[in-house]
Formats: sequence, structure tokens, C-alpha cells
Amino acid sequence: MQMKIADRLQHTEEYYFSKKLTEIAELNKNGAVVINLGIGSPDLQPPTVVIDTLIAEIQNPASHSYQKYNGIPELRSAIAKWYLQEYAVELDPEKEILPLIGSKEGIMHVCMTYLQTGDEALVPNPGYPTYVSAVQLSGATPVAYDLSAANKWFPDLEQLKQRDLSKVKLMWINYPHMPSGAKASRQFFVELIEFAREHEILICHDNPYSFILNDERISILSIPGSKEVAIELNSFSKTFNMAGWRLGMLLGAKERISEVLRFKSNMDSGMLYPLQVAASRALSIGPEWYQNLNKAYGSRREKVYELLSLLNCKYDKDQVGMFVWARIADSYKDAYQLSDQVLSDARVFITPGGIFGSQGKNYIRISLCASEQTLDEAIKRIKAVI
Ligand SMILES: Cc1ncc(COP(=O)(O)O)c(C=O)c1O
Repeated sequence: MQMKIADRLQHTEEYYFSKKLTEIAELNKNGAVVINLGIGSPDLQPPTVVIDTLIAEIQNPASHSYQKYNGIPELRSAIAKWYLQEYAVELDPEKEILPLIGSKEGIMHVCMTYLQTGDEALVPNPGYPTYVSAVQLSGATPVAYDLSAANKWFPDLEQLKQRDLSKVKLMWINYPHMPSGAKASRQFFVELIEFAREHEILICHDNPYSFILNDERISILSIPGSKEVAIELNSFSKTFNMAGWRLGMLLGAKERISEVLRFKSNMDSGMLYPLQVAASRALSIGPEWYQNLNKAYGSRREKVYELLSLLNCKYDKDQVGMFVWARIADSYKDAYQLSDQVLSDARVFITPGGIFGSQGKNYIRISLCASEQTLDEAIKRIKAVI
């Protein structure tokens, strides 16, 4: 039988990493043992107390039932406390917080809640590819705003204002920015909120990297008046090494949370109770957790700099977040060429920046989710072939 896929999937290919991981698995099957420095999936362990809590709670016979669509109250209260402590943002745990099955899920929910055919949404180029695909799946049109090294990977708001924004309903924004590692100032967020108010655009700030190699964490919701025009996504994936647990959160004004819940509650159900209790424990962990995490990433980053220098790449040391973003040498056509060459010659996978948009064409992104030992091995392999 031949099945015709729905029109909404017409522009949406299988996710690049999903395809690449299949290719790498094929190489490994043939004995290659590829070192994957592509994906930002933390290899370090979640906090022990979180694992212990999960184990204890799963033994409880009452743990296995359906859960509330908007999460258990204990998790929402823990999120409210964490936001107050870490970002100085006050949130009502009853109405302004929505636990999610990962922030990727939240990106889709937000698009499905607010966008439809005929609408436009601004997306960063380069940026996390899910913004484009979620906008497309909602039926709306993604409109890229270019980021570049020349503008320190920030949107030029003055230039944006000159464009026809009449159909733009929503803007995806993400600082610390993935893939460039740029970090926002409070002043930038103030200007962005002003812009959003002027043009009646909902700002959706995706904030999963603020704890990684970043001294000053900022939530857009800490800007006065922001709740009127902005919402924020956050995640347990990177901050607590819990990527596979699928736990995230949406924060914002009560109207926004109930609008998104209207879609989400028709789409999925509350997460497993032990997951939510364990996640609540993660949020009350002390400052040593963040210090130790960043110590590990800091040492790895030094090795990544070494590897990038071997490949003649140029990088900025002011970057924050879980990756290093680097400009490739002019001798390559684009970063796909460099990435393919390093994969075939050294059996090391690094992400070509073009997958994040055309503005990333001459850049590569290396993940810090590999041990120092693995990075040493990658360096050795690359040295052997250059
Ligand atoms: C910018 C950005 N947003 C969201 C996500 C998704 O995170 P989660 O695991 O919470 O779905 C990622 C994951 O790599 C990301 O890089």
C-alpha cells in the first residue's frame, strides 16, 4: 500500500541528527568506532539524590497512575522556588508554570497554540532547527532573522523594524544562543520587550543553557513588564544531565499557560509521578552541583580549543553554553565538507553549522558532552590525518 503523507509534513525532513546517527551506527557496525562530538546529550550523570528519589518513588504502588495535565503541585512549587532563587523571577506555581516532556515538546505546543496558515514566526538563523520545523508543522511560515559574528550573533532590531511585520505573531529567541554561544545582556532583553510590545509579537525565549559555563543567568521574565509579551522555556536536560528523562517547563503569564495547556492536554498526559518528584529534588540542589558541572565542562573546553586549532578554525573564547562554535578555514567550500572529511578520515563526527541555517555555513559546532579522554583520542586521530 502507498500512503500519501499529510501536506503539513511536506517541508519537514527527518531530523538531521536522526539521519546522521543512523549513518554513524552503520559505520560502527562495520568496525569504525566513531567519536561523536556532535550531539549535546550530557554524558555526565544526574545528581545522585535525583536517581535515589526516582528509585524510591517507583516502588510505590500509587506511582503508576495518570498524572495531572499541568504537573504535580510539588514540581510546580519547586520550579517557582528555583526561578526565584536563580533568576529573581516570581511565578505563581498554580497558574504561571507548566511542566513539560522536554522543552522541544514545548516548542511544538507553543507553535500549535498560536500559529496557523497565513501567520509568520521569526526564527534565528543560525538557530535550533526545531523552531523552523515546529512553525512549519503548525502551518505558519518561518521568517529568518540573520545573526552573524559582525553583530555578535544578535538580531538587528532596527533593521527588523523596517520589515513588514504585519503577519508576524511570534518570535523565537534563545540566549545563551545555540549554536554560537553568544550571551544576552539585560539591556538586549529590555529592547526586545519594547520591540515586541510595539509590534504585538509574542517573544518565546528558549533558555536551556543558562547554567552551562555562564556566570550571569538571565530569564527574560526578570525584565519588568515582560510577562505581557514574553514566555520562557527551560529544561532539566543540560542543567541536571537529565536529557533522556524528558523534563522541561514553560513559564509565563497565567493566560499564556492556560492557552498552551488547552493544546497540550489534548496531546499528551502528565509525566510519571516518580519523574516529577525526582525532578523537584534536582531543583533544590546546592551550588556545588553547578560548580562541579562547570569545572568539568571548562576543562573539556580547553581540549576542544586545541582540537579546533588543529583544524585551523577560529573561535571566540567569550562563548557560553555546552558547545564551541568556530569558523572554518577559507580553504573549505563549507563546513559540511570539513565535517564529512573529518568523519571519513579520523572517524570523528563534528556538526556542520549549515544545519542551523545558512548563516552557519562556514562554522562548525563541537559538543562538550565527551570526556577529556575521548577528546584526547579525537585530537590524536585528527593529528594522525592532517
Ligand atoms: C536551543 C535548544 N532548545 C531546546 C532544546 C531541547 O531540549 P529538551 O531536551 O528540553 O527538549 C535543545 C536541545 O538540544 C536546544 O539546543
